[in-house]
Amino acid sequence: MQFDLTNIPNQNDKIAMITGASSGLGQAVACSLAQIGCTAVLACRSLEKAEQAKHNMMQALPHAAIDTLSIDLSAMDSVRSAAATFKKQYSRLDILVNNAGIMYPSFTLTSDGFESQLATNSLGHFLLTALLIDAMPDQSSSRITWVSSLAHRTGKIHFKDLHMVSNYSKAAAYSQSKLACLMYTIELDRRLKMAGKKIISNAAHPGAVRSNLSRNMSPWLMTALEYTLLPLITHSTQSGSVPILQASLSLESPGGQYYGPQGFFELKGPSGLAKIAKQALNKAHLIKLWQVSESLTGAHFDL
Ligand SMILES: NC(=O)c1ccc[n+]([C@@H]2O[C@H](COP(=O)([O-])OP(=O)(O)OC[C@H]3O[C@@H](n4cnc5c(N)ncnc54)[C@H](OP(=O)(O)O)[C@@H]3O)[C@@H](O)[C@H]2O)c1
Repeated sequence: MQFDLTNIPNQNDKIAMITGASSGLGQAVACSLAQIGCTAVLACRSLEKAEQAKHNMMQALPHAAIDTLSIDLSAMDSVRSAAATFKKQYSRLDILVNNAGIMYPSFTLTSDGFESQLATNSLGHFLLTALLIDAMPDQSSSRITWVSSLAHRTGKIHFKDLHMVSNYSKAAAYSQSKLACLMYTIELDRRLKMAGKKIISNAAHPGAVRSNLSRNMSPWLMTALEYTLLPLITHSTQSGSVPILQASLSLESPGGQYYGPQGFFELKGPSGLAKIAKQALNKAHLIKLWQVSESLTGAHFDL
């Protein structure tokens, strides 16, 4: 059955945190969740942008419950302090959307010594999830949604040089980070089920959406694409957010699912189950990545 937000019952009692909700897909997801009654916590690295996003949302949804939270997912100290602040203000979390992301920056190591795309897109969310999962009620409406990408299909986990210090490629590092998100989804789902928990870990990708994500790409290339390919292959943030909403809300989801658009090459179209590349299912690598991520971030999942 096709996912339809209008079939979702009112979520007035639900608290949702959406990372990277200051723009693009995160803002679209936050709007939809607020529209169906969730308290939407906009977890953003710039509080100024978060307040602006909240202001914009309140114009359209004057009765919505919207809050802001400061978090820099590339810095593990900031992730720890954001999780602590959240827990002081709220007694529970129902939906965590691990959405924030960057693409194709120049090579940078963060203050923790992590490659910046892996830190922001994957490791920061891994730690955030570990710190918040004990605030999630043990029920199937409790959701952790990881935002991956079609790029995961070209990804490889560079276990020997995870931070790509010796051979950095912007695209390979992005693909690695998005593959890691999908692998966390699958491994967390396995661990939750092993522990007899009902909380659901799902992933989603939006297909191709025009957003600020392309800010590190060459402006002239983007202008050329704007007049040629992009109108054909992209869809709106609203439409691209539907697989993320399906992962976060679908009542039929058994967990461990990956949702994405169903059109040509999964670039756009209605939301449904998406193709998972075989390297995301390698059991030994799933466990190894989990252990490496625990050791790098100090995260411990209390399941
Ligand atoms: N657009 C696509 O076609 C596409 C395709 C596949 C997957 N995705 C994934 O979708 C997600 C959202 O991307 P988008 O297209 O909506 O791009 P976007 O408009 O650039 O949004 C990215 C969001 O992440 C935030 N962010 C970046 N670094 C952060 C950090 N260190 N700490 C906290 N927040 C941070 C940004 O905050 P600032 O506003 O402060 O920069 C922004 O709110 C990403 O994970 C991306 O990989 C997008």
